[in-house]
Amino acid sequence: MNESEFVHQPVLLRQAVEALRPQNGGVYVDGTLGAGGHTRALLDASKPAGRVIAFDQDRHAIANAERWRKEYGDRLLLIHDNFRTVQTRLAAMGIKTVDGMVFDLGVSSPQLDEAERGFSYNNDALLDMRMDHRQDRSAATLLGSLSERELTVMLRQYGEEKWASRIASFIVSERANRAITTTGQLVDLIKAAVPAAARRTGPHPAKRVFQALRIAVNDELGALEELLEQIPACLRGSARAAVITFHSLEDRLVKQRFALHARDCVCPPKAPRCTCGHRATMRVITRKPILPDERELADNARARSAKLRVAERL
Ligand SMILES: C[S@@+](CC[C@H](N)C(=O)[O-])C[C@H]1O[C@@H](n2cnc3c(N)ncnc32)[C@H](O)[C@@H]1O
Repeated sequence: MNESEFVHQPVLLRQAVEALRPQNGGVYVDGTLGAGGHTRALLDASKPAGRVIAFDQDRHAIANAERWRKEYGDRLLLIHDNFRTVQTRLAAMGIKTVDGMVFDLGVSSPQLDEAERGFSYNNDALLDMRMDHRQDRSAATLLGSLSERELTVMLRQYGEEKWASRIASFIVSERANRAITTTGQLVDLIKAAVPAAARRTGPHPAKRVFQALRIAVNDELGALEELLEQIPACLRGSARAAVITFHSLEDRLVKQRFALHARDCVCPPKAPRCTCGHRATMRVITRKPILPDERELADNARARSAKLRVAERL
């Protein structure tokens, strides 16, 4: 994929960047660089001296951003790693805290568009789905190794797939004959497993299964939980964190963890006195999530399920 094709229309860009209140000279983390929409907007809003430390576990996103070296110089620091390592990565650079953090979760358009990455049910390709190519586990290895029960749980939990157990049983029968290695093979199998009547309405029948697999392959919810835990310790003063999610599983985690950071006591409600010692470290800024406006929705189909939540360090 060449540079001109590495394009991703940023979601909730203005809202997320404004929420961080960028200042000249501030230091910001963009945990999900992608094609750089939020990173560049933060660099522009914090010029001439603001810096952005941008993470992406996908080497293509990092390589793509290298071309902005001339424009931003050492104001832009690129880290090819999972954002779950944010605290240790910052510490290794001698940075204890930053002035704001943004995370725009999920996959980027270039990842979906590049057929051979195996993220899309619209193209026939090897079942890969790894955002980080250094990882061993791919979608194919996962489909080959999980038990029928584990497959059912994965499809139900991460895809909220109604036909989870039926699809899992079809996967197990198919792989007894030949390994499931391509997206096309998986799509055919899903179509065979889901009754025709159920396939006639709603989204593509493979949508939920592909979402579930992608989340599992990349341990997306595990990484998000680890990140959310670290956020208060990474912020200074009244710095803010902004997180954009694209499905209810992610949004629930962000909402619950921000609420927990904002509580003084996390003892069971009936406990006679507080023994937990938990103290609030953050204040929730968005009681209700910020959603894309009509114009953005009309302009960008990917924005449809987006929700932005913001919390501020106390
Ligand atoms: C939705 S895109 C970000 C788009 C970006 N904000 C833009 O405007 O171009 C998500 C990006 O985050 C990366 N990513 C997802 N989860 C990650 C994680 N746990 N650690 C690091 N990068 C991650 C993906 O590889 C992808 O490039």
